[in-house]
Amino acid sequence: MIDVRSIQADEGELLREVRLAALKSAPAAFLETYDEVAADPADVWAARAAASTGEGDQLIMVALDEGRPVGMAGIAREIGQRRRHRATLWGVWLDPAHRGRGVGRQLVSTALDWARVREVRAVYLEVVENEDPSWSLYGRLGFVRREVDPFGAHVDGHDVALEHLVLVL
Ligand SMILES: CC(C)(COP(=O)(O)OP(=O)(O)OC[C@H]1O[C@@H](n2cnc3c(N)ncnc32)[C@H](O)[C@@H]1OP(=O)(O)O)[C@@H](O)C(=O)NCCC(=O)NCCS
Repeated sequence: MIDVRSIQADEGELLREVRLAALKSAPAAFLETYDEVAADPADVWAARAAASTGEGDQLIMVALDEGRPVGMAGIAREIGQRRRHRATLWGVWLDPAHRGRGVGRQLVSTALDWARVREVRAVYLEVVENEDPSWSLYGRLGFVRREVDPFGAHVDGHDVALEHLVLVL
C-alpha cells in the first residue's frame, strides 16, 4: 500500500533520500545532478523540508511504501502580487518498481489540487523532449506543449532539448 502525502517540516533526511534516489535512478530526466545535490549539508535539507509542507508557497508530495520513500513531486508557487497566479512543477519521480499503477498521477494531481486551492492559474514545467512516460502523464492531466528550447540543458558535451509545458487550471 503506497501512502501519498506532503513532506513534514522535520523530514529533511527523508527528502534527501527520495531526491537522491530520483537523481540516481533517472539522471536524464532532471536538470540537477546527483553529485551537485548530494553535496548539500543536512541543514539545507532540513530547511527545504520545512519550506515545502504546503503551508507557504511550496509543496513536496512524497510516496511512501511502508515508510520508505519511493516517489515525489514538487510544486512552487511564485511570489509577489503580480506573479502569484503561476507555479512550477518539478522533480516528479516514481521508483521503477512502483510505476504504472497511478501513483505518479496521484502525486501530480495532489500537487495541482494544492495549487488550485491557492488560485494558481497556470502551472509550468520543463521536460526532456520525447520522454514518453512523462508526456503520457502530463498530457493526460491537460498540460499542453508551448515550445521546445533546443539548448535547455547541456549533458556530456551535448545539447538536450527541453519541452516547456503549461497547464491552465
Ligand atoms: C513519469 C513517471 C513519474 C510516471 O509515474 P507512474 O506512476 O508510472 O505513472 P502513472 O502510473 O500514474 O501513469 C500516469 C499516466 O501516464 C501513463 N504512463 C505511465 N507510464 C507510461 C509509460 N511508460 N508509457 C506510456 N504511458 C505511461 C499511464 O497510462 C497513465 O495514464 P492513464 O491514467 O490515463 O492510464 C515515472 O515514469 C518516472 O518517474 N519517470 C522517470 C522520471 C521522469 O521522467 N520524471 C518526469 C520529469 S519532468
